[in-house]
Amino acid sequence: MSDDHIKMSKTTPMQVVSAVLGGLLPPLIAIILIVVLVIKIQMSHSSAAPLNMDPKVVDARIKPVGDLVVADLSKVHVDMTGEQVFNAVCTACHTPGALGAPIFGNKALWAPRIKQGYQTLISHAENGIRSMPARGGNPDLSDLEIARAVAYMANAGGANFTPPAAPSAPAATATPAAK
Ligand code: HEC
Repeated sequence: MSDDHIKMSKTTPMQVVSAVLGGLLPPLIAIILIVVLVIKIQMSHSSAAPLNMDPKVVDARIKPVGDLVVADLSKVHVDMTGEQVFNAVCTACHTPGALGAPIFGNKALWAPRIKQGYQTLISHAENGIRSMPARGGNPDLSDLEIARAVAYMANAGGANFTPPAAPSAPAATATPAAK
C-alpha cells in the first residue's frame, strides 16, 4: 500500500516539462504578438525620410499654434461725432457755464456767438479765445471733430450750421453725420 502511494504522487519529468510548457507558452506567444504589433505601429509612424533638422524648419514645427498680433490702436484716429466730442470734452464747461462759457442749449447766450459765423466760431474753438482753451484743452481732437462739436453746440443754441463732410470716408463706414 505504501508503494502505491509513492507511485501515485510521483510526477514524471515528462509531466513537469509539459506542465511548464503548457503554462508558459500561451502567455509567451501573446507577448510576442503584442511586441510585433507595437513595432509595426511604430514603423508606420516614422517617415522614411530622415527628420529635417534645419533650424527654420524646426522652428516652424514647434511654433505655438496661436500667433499674437499686437495692434497699436492709439495710431488709429476715428473721428467722433459732434455729440460725442461735446459729451467727452466740451460739456465740462459748456453745460454748467464754467468760466463764463456759453451754456449748451441757452439761445440767449448763444445768439451773439452764432452771429460771428460758423468759421469764426470754429477758429475760436480751435485756437482758443479768452478763457476758452484751444480745442477745449484736448489737442487730440481733429479739425473735423472741433467743427462738428461747434455745430452741435451752436445748433442747440439756435444756429443751423452744417458740419463739413468726413474726408473721403466710404459710405459704408462713414460715421453718422453730426447734428
Ligand atoms: C475749460 C472750459 C472749456 C472747455 C472744456 C470748452 N470750452 Fe468752449 N468756451 C469756454 C469759455 C469760458 C468760453 C467763453 C469765452 C469768451 O468768449 O470769453 C467758451 C466759448 C466757446 C465758443 C464760442 C467762441 C466765440 O467766439 O464766441 C465756442 C464755439 C466753444 N467754446 C467751443 C467749444 C468746444 C467745441 C469745446 C469742446 C471741444 C469747448 N468749447 C470746450 C470754456 C470751455
